[in-house]
Amino acid sequence: MRTVAIVPAAGSGNRMGRDVSKQYLSLGGTPLLVHSLKVFEECPLVDALLVVVPPQDIDFVRNTLLAPWDMKKVAGVIPGGKERQDSVRAGIEALDPDAGVVIVHDAVRPFTTVELISQCIRTAGEEGAVTVGVPLKDTVKEVAPDGRVMRTCDRSLLWLTQTPQAFRRDIIENAHRAAVRDGFRGTDDASLVERLGIAVRMIRGDYGNIKITTPEDLVIAEAMLAASLKAKG
Ligand code: CTP
Ligand code: MG
Repeated sequence: MRTVAIVPAAGSGNRMGRDVSKQYLSLGGTPLLVHSLKVFEECPLVDALLVVVPPQDIDFVRNTLLAPWDMKKVAGVIPGGKERQDSVRAGIEALDPDAGVVIVHDAVRPFTTVELISQCIRTAGEEGAVTVGVPLKDTVKEVAPDGRVMRTCDRSLLWLTQTPQAFRRDIIENAHRAAVRDGFRGTDDASLVERLGIAVRMIRGDYGNIKITTPEDLVIAEAMLAASLKAKG
């Protein structure tokens, strides 16, 4: 059984507010998408990569992004859909019959690690469904639309959820099928599994595994990259 990574990269990056979609923006001279894919290229437990991109960008991604960086595991560049969930589903529909474990990772989280990916894949094989995340650092309050604080949440139970998320193939396939059937929209893949009553394991990721969402995230990412290059000497 093979392990296939699906990398949704078909968004338009509205919150980033740039002309170019954020997955193509440079981080230390290398596009964010390439940074994210490289970690999966380096992970021995990953057999193949499916990259999901805006339909009009397929040739650009193949010729301008993937070819120069010598990606060996990319098995497909697939047209994405309207929302992230549609793009991941397009990846699932393109899976080979021999894919046993599926790991999903946002193209715009360039700081994931081989260790974290490996841990996710192993846990998915043992338990069926896994996400990475980190405990909250700040206090969280629920606030009414008029700005009135309604309550303070119990932070000890709250985790910020990241990717990668990994699943046994049958579990994620069923979860996406059920979401289409029920018209359910989630902001991650694990939530589609949770709603079927299937247990999802949370494993502790890394505070540095940030998602590049708004302009200040790219400033932080450049600083983190510079610090890690310095540490490596
Ligand atoms: N994504 C996707 N298909 C979509 C929307 C998002 O594959 N229709 C991908 C993005 O490219 C990104 C990941 O899902 O790698 C996480 O989504 P997000 O951070 O929300 O990216 P965007 O949707 O591009 O940004 P925004 O929501 O600000 O427009
Ligand atoms: Mg989005």
